Amino acid sequence: MTLTVVGHGYVGLVSACVFADFGNEVYVIGRNKEKINRLKNGDPIIFEPGLKELLEKNLKAGRLHFTLDYQEAIPKSEIVFITVGTPPKNNGEADLSSVFEVAKNIAKNLSSHFTVVSCKSTVPVGTNKKVEEIIKKYAPKKAQFAVASCPEFLREGSAIADTLNADRIVIGSSSKKAIEILLKLHQPFSSKKIVTDLASAELIKYAANAILATKISFSNLIAFYCEKTGADVEKVLDAVGLDKRIGRIFMNPGVGYGGSCLPKDVLALIDTGKKLNIDTSLLKAVDKVNYQAKENFLQKILKNKQGKNTAILGLSFKPNTDDIRFAPSIFIIENLLKHGFKIKVFDPEAMGNIRKIFGEKIEYAKNPYEAAKNADQLIILTEWNEFKQIDLKKLKKILKKPVIFDGRNIYDPLLLKNLGFKYFSVGR
Ligand code: UDX
Repeated sequence: MTLTVVGHGYVGLVSACVFADFGNEVYVIGRNKEKINRLKNGDPIIFEPGLKELLEKNLKAGRLHFTLDYQEAIPKSEIVFITVGTPPKNNGEADLSSVFEVAKNIAKNLSSHFTVVSCKSTVPVGTNKKVEEIIKKYAPKKAQFAVASCPEFLREGSAIADTLNADRIVIGSSSKKAIEILLKLHQPFSSKKIVTDLASAELIKYAANAILATKISFSNLIAFYCEKTGADVEKVLDAVGLDKRIGRIFMNPGVGYGGSCLPKDVLALIDTGKKLNIDTSLLKAVDKVNYQAKENFLQKILKNKQGKNTAILGLSFKPNTDDIRFAPSIFIIENLLKHGFKIKVFDPEAMGNIRKIFGEKIEYAKNPYEAAKNADQLIILTEWNEFKQIDLKKLKKILKKPVIFDGRNIYDPLLLKNLGFKYFSVGR
């Protein structure tokens, strides 16, 4: 099949590479010449394990084409995916301007053969109806099209595996023909397919991210109880999670959730609820607890600090990505700087992005030990594998004071106590 993907972020580029890998002819449209040139040369721009290899392989096979030109791609395509960003506005509402702009550009280039325009971007319920109206308004008279919603559930850091082995593929549309075409495209995927209407497909994505955020905030709330009572949150949640109705997955307390999805999608769902006159107290509490998780961790550092020289390990919002959008590290660094801390950081992938925010206000180390050298305390904010088996004895020698604040509970408290560390983690 021939398809177009508009946008080349995590969702767009990963989907494009995976669809191309299945033998499809895939056009990717961007709006920045420099980025399109980098992509043409096999540079994925973002860091995502395995993506560079998949990009290079499919470029070489001649199945992936990057362009700025809608006319080059849309008329040939059976399916056009919209995968552009929907960042939050200040009031939490999703900013849909890019989605609508892209819809207009697609519309103008539609031809007389039937095209499915399918949104993969996370958009509030009702958005695809608006996309349909925009396309109707701007498409040439001869154009034949239908709108669909195909939300994407991939996680950064494991995006390719998630796309290949998705728990479900959701296809929402009122057009039988569009559904048939999308089912044909997804035929090589063994994932369960859920075919539904547009509104349900849109809501499935928000409902999924909201329950994931709720699980994390719930775990953090229980951690607060543990800290006040001397209970051990890991043991509490291990036991709770053994109930199959609950499960232990995605119940890891810590310094809070970040990233480009959970924070913004919870806020956008609150905003949609407001517009629909629904009481969204539950979601507001999820967001509030996530803030409290960061604040609680910050207060722990301020209360127990041994001096101002501080090492921070882990900056990305989660391991295996260089993404720092809404990363707890930004909150912690900003606040420690306000309190006059001197900070030296290390992250395997996200240093470049953090430098864009903090510049020379903080120092950057080449490895974890360099960051820790002579520090009065060490803070862990992302659970990268390479921190989990760090040489703790060496670390103790290097640090000025053997103090660790662990925002991801990666070490055994007893082990650290026996090694002579003062160890502060979350909820235990
Ligand atoms: C999320 C959804 O998981 C994915 O299905 C959707 O398509 C996009 O949003 P992503 O943002 O890539 O994916 O990361 P995820 O693995 O969900 O982690 C989000 C945040 O939650 C991270 O900051 C992570 O550290 C935090 N988290 C996750 C916890 O604090 N505790 C947990 O138990 C799990």
